Amino acid sequence: MGPSQRTIPFVTDKVIPVADHRYRAAVPSIPASAHAANGLLTDTLGRPLRDLRISVTDRCNFRCSYCMPKEVFDKHYEFLPHSSLLSFEEITRAARIFVSHGVRKIRLTGGEPLDLTLTTNGSLLERKAQALKDAGLQRVTVSLDALDDTIFRRMNDMDFPVAEVLDGIAAAERVGLRPIKVNMVVKRGTNDQEIVPMAQHFRGTPIVLRFIEYMDVGATNGWRMDEVLPSAQVIERLREQFALRSIDPNYPGETAERWRYADGMGEIGVISSVTQAFCHDCNRARLSTEGKLFLCLFASAGHDLRALLRGHGGRTYSDEEIAAAIGLIWQRRDDRYSEQRSAQQPAREPGERRVEMHYIGG
Ligand code: GTP
Ligand code: 5AD
Ligand code: SF4
Ligand code: SF4
Repeated sequence: MGPSQRTIPFVTDKVIPVADHRYRAAVPSIPASAHAANGLLTDTLGRPLRDLRISVTDRCNFRCSYCMPKEVFDKHYEFLPHSSLLSFEEITRAARIFVSHGVRKIRLTGGEPLDLTLTTNGSLLERKAQALKDAGLQRVTVSLDALDDTIFRRMNDMDFPVAEVLDGIAAAERVGLRPIKVNMVVKRGTNDQEIVPMAQHFRGTPIVLRFIEYMDVGATNGWRMDEVLPSAQVIERLREQFALRSIDPNYPGETAERWRYADGMGEIGVISSVTQAFCHDCNRARLSTEGKLFLCLFASAGHDLRALLRGHGGRTYSDEEIAAAIGLIWQRRDDRYSEQRSAQQPAREPGERRVEMHYIGG
């Protein structure tokens, strides 16, 4: 057997722990015969790879209870050390390889830092909007869960005032970071009374407000089904006030179901991953801030691409080899957590470790 031949079988079923304590990830091994299947890569359910979400940090200045509850993410919580994070060069190299596989959209996410991301909590947006625009950012999605200051402060659990986020959205508009989308996570009994006021506020503007069903991502937010307000009920409440018309998706696999005000006053969306799973055309891969590739928002283990990007076991890997590894990983993908969860709840064992939203970026 020649030294260039690698006969280690490619395994995703044997997940080995990596050096740090966070999430399990197997180091992908690459059979000698593997070729990078550029272009028409599809998984076991025929889904292409189109959307890559790259997380750039696991930190955040908010403590939204549905994402980073204070009791868990307190001053003792150990965030990842800088050396674990992918470098700028590693991120761009990985992005290039994914693009060679057909990825067409890259969204930078993370614990929603402002200076790097496109999905943000908006807390620094007023100050940074112009610099972001100048750096080449095209558009921005801002998370905003309430207009009522008391409810908003309670939800971010950092006593952060809503006015500053609204100023941030205004600044984004001013500098032309368009189209702006606003994400509102709806928790029944916490902020569902804000649905109509939020719609009223953004109605008549080009901003697209999207209502997201509270999801059971991770294992720290104490998710309960009775705190989920199904999108159908969100639409019902809105229809009591406004005439709405359903409209077609912008692209296949779009997470939001789109609606337009019949009087032409703008657009809203609902993201219903709990009550109407959209796994059947999920074309998203997620690269964590430390270079682990996750094939589902609800995955409990990933694939350690950083080991390949940095070299591993005394070897370095070419772009082609890394592309081959990614190709094989995607071709074996069969994740469809939300559909399974709807069918047989819960779809995971209680207590099973799952990737957290602040870590993977949403
Ligand atoms: P655009 O359509 O490009 O604006 O973006 P998007 O809807 O893909 O991205 P965004 O990050 O705004 O997604 C909105 C929210 O939908 C996320 O924050 C998640 O809460 C949810 N979401 C996005 N992708 C998935 C997914 O693959 N699975 C599930 N279950 N939820 C998702
Ligand atoms: N369920 C639904 N959406 C969530 N987000 C964070 N945690 C959850 C959850 N448990 C949202 C954020 C942000 C996006 C990245 O994901 O509010 O808009
Ligand atoms: Fe809240 Fe987003 Fe920060 Fe999570 S990452 S705590 S959802 S602002
Ligand atoms: Fe995709 Fe997983 Fe979300 Fe389903 S649950 S849409 S497979 S990320």
